Amino acid sequence: MTTILQTTHTQTTSGAPALELERITLTYPDGTGTVTALDDVSLSLTPGTVTAIVGPSGSGKSSLLAVGSTLVTPTSGVVRIDGTDVGRLKESERSRLRREKIGIVFQQPNLLQSLTALEQLIITDRLRGTGGDATRTRAQALLERVGLADAARRRPHQLSGGQRQRVNIARALMGDPSVLLVDEPTAALDHDRSEAIMDLLCQVTKEFDVATVIVTHDTEFLPKTDAVATMRDGRLTDPEHAPAAAG
Ligand SMILES: Nc1ncnc2c1ncn2[C@@H]1O[C@H](COP(=O)(O)OP(=O)(O)OP(=O)(O)O)[C@@H](O)[C@H]1O
Ligand SMILES: [Mg+2]
Repeated sequence: MTTILQTTHTQTTSGAPALELERITLTYPDGTGTVTALDDVSLSLTPGTVTAIVGPSGSGKSSLLAVGSTLVTPTSGVVRIDGTDVGRLKESERSRLRREKIGIVFQQPNLLQSLTALEQLIITDRLRGTGGDATRTRAQALLERVGLADAARRRPHQLSGGQRQRVNIARALMGDPSVLLVDEPTAALDHDRSEAIMDLLCQVTKEFDVATVIVTHDTEFLPKTDAVATMRDGRLTDPEHAPAAAG
């Protein structure tokens, strides 16, 4: 890995969690009553590890990522990012923490149609208030890292689904986050491209020393992850070591 991509986020005490959810409950209004999307969920994630979340549709997986991303405030419970209690921050401080500490990858890469792959990464940094030559150099290095060095000047419609997802991953890593939240990254991809994306996510997790959560239906790829937790009716099992690959 070139030095430009080496992680710069400060390590606190080694092994300290990057993301902690403590007794999180999330309810949404639903007609006259409420629906409980998350029911007393706790989770602690260490840098450099991939935790997979599996579970049926409607069980609360995306809600968990929404709370972990700090975009949604839980009804009760505590969210800590690198030890900071997010609930104690003002909205402006929370937005800043989100920009600096959290990378998000959704199923459908939300890329801007008019921008090239390189520009998608650069504009994210501009929004962060940084920019300049260092940004361009980092964006180029990241595109190279995800296997898109030759596609830097292409716009989304000139990229395959797998390539778009790679741009999405590179973009999420631009700010050198502590936490990477990934929702169904392979849902729109065929088997081989799905496997390549899962491999890439597991590799960058180690290289960037980020705590990664991947929501997935692809149980075949769970052996690549470090731990698997199951969501059912808003409740999360304790993460267990991923099963060994079959065969
Ligand atoms: N904005 C919302 N308003 C009201 N209810 C919601 C909202 N978002 C999610 N829910 C409800 O919360 C529950 C959990 O939804 P969530 O999207 O987290 O599930 P999921 O596990 O991600 O499902 P899928 O696998 O289909 O993506 C569901 O009952 C859903 O209908
Ligand atoms: Mg979902």
